Amino acid sequence: MCGIIGYIGKKNVVPILIEGLKKLEYRGYDSAGIAVVDDGPILRRRAKGKISVLEDVLKQDEVKGNYGIGHTRWATHGRPSEENAHPHQDCTGDIVIVHNGIIEKYMDLKTQLSFEGHKFQTETDTEVIAHLIEKYFQENLEEAVRQAMEHLEGEFAVAVISSRDRDKIVLVKQGPPVIVGLGENEYFISSDVNPLLLYTKDVVFLNDGEMAVIEREGVTYSDFSGKLLKKKIDHINWNPLMIEKSGFKHFMLKEIFEQPRVIRDTLKGRISMDKGKVLLGEIGLPPERIKSIRRVVILACGTSFNASLVGKYFIEEIAGIPVDVEYASEYRYRNFILDKNSLVVAVSQSGETADTLAALRALKVKKPLTLAVCNVESSSIARETAGLLMTHAGPEIGVAATKTFSAQMTALMLLALYLGQINESMDKDTGLSYIKELQRIPTKIESILSQTEGLEKLAKKFISASHFLYLGRWANYPIALEGALKLKEISYIHAEGYPSGEMKHGPIALIDDNMPTMAIAPKDRIYEKIMSNISEIKARSGYVIAVAYEDDKEIEAKVDAVIRIPAILPLLSPFLTTVPLQLFAYYIAAARGADVDQPRNLAKSVTVE
Ligand code: AGP
Repeated sequence: MCGIIGYIGKKNVVPILIEGLKKLEYRGYDSAGIAVVDDGPILRRRAKGKISVLEDVLKQDEVKGNYGIGHTRWATHGRPSEENAHPHQDCTGDIVIVHNGIIEKYMDLKTQLSFEGHKFQTETDTEVIAHLIEKYFQENLEEAVRQAMEHLEGEFAVAVISSRDRDKIVLVKQGPPVIVGLGENEYFISSDVNPLLLYTKDVVFLNDGEMAVIEREGVTYSDFSGKLLKKKIDHINWNPLMIEKSGFKHFMLKEIFEQPRVIRDTLKGRISMDKGKVLLGEIGLPPERIKSIRRVVILACGTSFNASLVGKYFIEEIAGIPVDVEYASEYRYRNFILDKNSLVVAVSQSGETADTLAALRALKVKKPLTLAVCNVESSSIARETAGLLMTHAGPEIGVAATKTFSAQMTALMLLALYLGQINESMDKDTGLSYIKELQRIPTKIESILSQTEGLEKLAKKFISASHFLYLGRWANYPIALEGALKLKEISYIHAEGYPSGEMKHGPIALIDDNMPTMAIAPKDRIYEKIMSNISEIKARSGYVIAVAYEDDKEIEAKVDAVIRIPAILPLLSPFLTTVPLQLFAYYIAAARGADVDQPRNLAKSVTVE
């Protein structure tokens, strides 16, 4: 949930750290800070608030250096403030660290270290790491770090520098991601690849229990016991321009408009029209194992949970296999009723969500088949499952997931078709009809994106709304959840997604002038049902907006406003109904002046529990 950055080389480190922190800001932005070294002591500058506040501090109180570390924070222990901002230091200021994660039982450590004479300056758990390293420091920084790690429990990605053992950055990983970027006689560290792409595409991902000592002459890798390791160098294919806004006001809007390309990229090379088949051998699961699958459990959080719920309808309709979709944060504490005939799918854009990773690790004891649906290839979740089905959405900078949601639905549709092929639950013609319609989705989304004026005008009517109800049925019930989540997380308007059939079991009591309803109403096999739900709302003077097909002539007279989408095979309608709801939330939030790309209290990747 925080962002770590670091550099060692010949350049002035400050602009590199600041630009890197800006690209990590979506991971957390309560406060930020840097610590740099030139010839003298370590110089630290910190500020509460966003990176721009830290930049103002640096304008007033400039520092320079040729190596250093930086951090942007999402507070877990200790309120957002300058004194709680990283980097943190030991008693002397000669050892300085940045940390992403949570140190369990840190108060026990803090009490013991205080008893031994260490003076603490912050409310954070992180500071205990700096004092622990100080306690063990003799002459060699990595040795002191190694000894300190033996006393830490919890999740930590830590970068350390010291003026007592200069010209090196020591990096450790136990939980949250951290990466080394390999330049020309210069090296970088970062919580994710985005900041590195400006300088290098050659990176090394540390695994849990591993350390790196980064010096100008090169990088040495070892485990926490000191055993030297040889690490694979990954080459990242994303280009830096993919991270820029390309003329859009917000990354979120750009990413909504990228969805046609993202769906095409996620489909690319995975469909054979002449065979009428899906080609998913790349996921690396043996077909004979897949044939034995009798149950699918999908684990996810947030938007990925909502995409997984759509995947449930795909797999059950096409492959005829029962699917349970579970909140990973709940499932991890459950009694896992799984066996070798179960397929567990972990759906995670970042591949680093702590709850999803923890649930996946815990359930392995039952020996199910495991598959990850991820957007980051070398992420922890992607590396800890037997199979991997990548979404090709590219980096998503907006904290609110949009294009990765569509990419996840695409991947899950491909998986459903693949499972159906292998267990022969779907006849060839049906499979072909789905495949053909899948390939038409990007063009249909482009048609929605080409006429947003009316939608923007409608959305702006609701900038003062306090509540919203989103209703959907069948495969669009998850879209009601996702539409509500989008509105909540970027405009801060309370919104609830509900299966529309549930209205009469309670929520209809909410209907009044202050409770507008968004009803997702594609002409599918239950269209009449949602129309009766709409009538129930209208009978109680509720305001209703319907998302409906362009050729639906009857809906206009029954609701207050209509958002039109192209018709599509009913099961695939979630791909289209999603887009206007993303835009609706975006336009309201932008009109409210909300921080659309970095909503308050949120972070892009929840790498702590
Ligand atoms: C959704 O807009 C949020 N960004 C959040 O709910 C996110 O989907 C969730 O934290 C899961 O993240 P993941 O896909 O990286 O696991």
